[in-house]
Amino acid sequence: MSKLKVAVLISGTGSNMGALARATMDPDYPVEIVLVLSNRPHAAGLELAQEHGIPIRVIDHTGYDSREAHEHAVNDALRESGARLICLAGYMRILTDGFVNQWRGQLVNIHPSLLPSFRGIDTHARALERGVRIHGCTVHFVNAELDGGPIIAQAAVRVEPDDTPESLAARVLKAEHELFPHALRLIGDQSVRWSGDDAVKDLNVSSSDVARME
Ligand code: GRF
Repeated sequence: MSKLKVAVLISGTGSNMGALARATMDPDYPVEIVLVLSNRPHAAGLELAQEHGIPIRVIDHTGYDSREAHEHAVNDALRESGARLICLAGYMRILTDGFVNQWRGQLVNIHPSLLPSFRGIDTHARALERGVRIHGCTVHFVNAELDGGPIIAQAAVRVEPDDTPESLAARVLKAEHELFPHALRLIGDQSVRWSGDDAVKDLNVSSSDVARME
């Protein structure tokens, strides 16, 4: 079966992209990365992508007058790459509804919390403040709602009594590096997909589906 062509959007370190790149070194892995695209010219992940021999593009948002104009350029690059799935991996740009709808079911994000808890930023500090005992990360399809789309896979980590936001972030990031390639394998194998016209209600992904596939 031919591999699922994936583009990864980053803004910084790109360690999740690196974890995915390592996974693709297995000839049986059903996914290949055809492009790593950054909105920041100095994102460290760009160098990492090059070390893996992955084509890179920089489309610096500061060079565009509007969010739409920048997205338009990003979209052109994505279409040119032949990618069928777009992964947001630390991509620090808000996407317009137009972009999200255009890639519906083909756009996934990795988020550092167990959604639907702690949407948005500063998830680790907020988890500690709230006193949760279990924290973690989620890979989900993207819809127009912030961190709100159907969940594909999750990993849980224990919160330790002496955790700081930094120590918790490091533990969650390690889990992300396992979870992200796992979730993409589920999509590449066609074990999960998102179908239906409406947001979360009408979909083919459910936790029982995912559990059965594992
Ligand atoms: C990760 O914690 C991811 O969940 C969040 O941004 C961070 C990106 O880290 N969306 P990296 O660039 O993959 O190292």
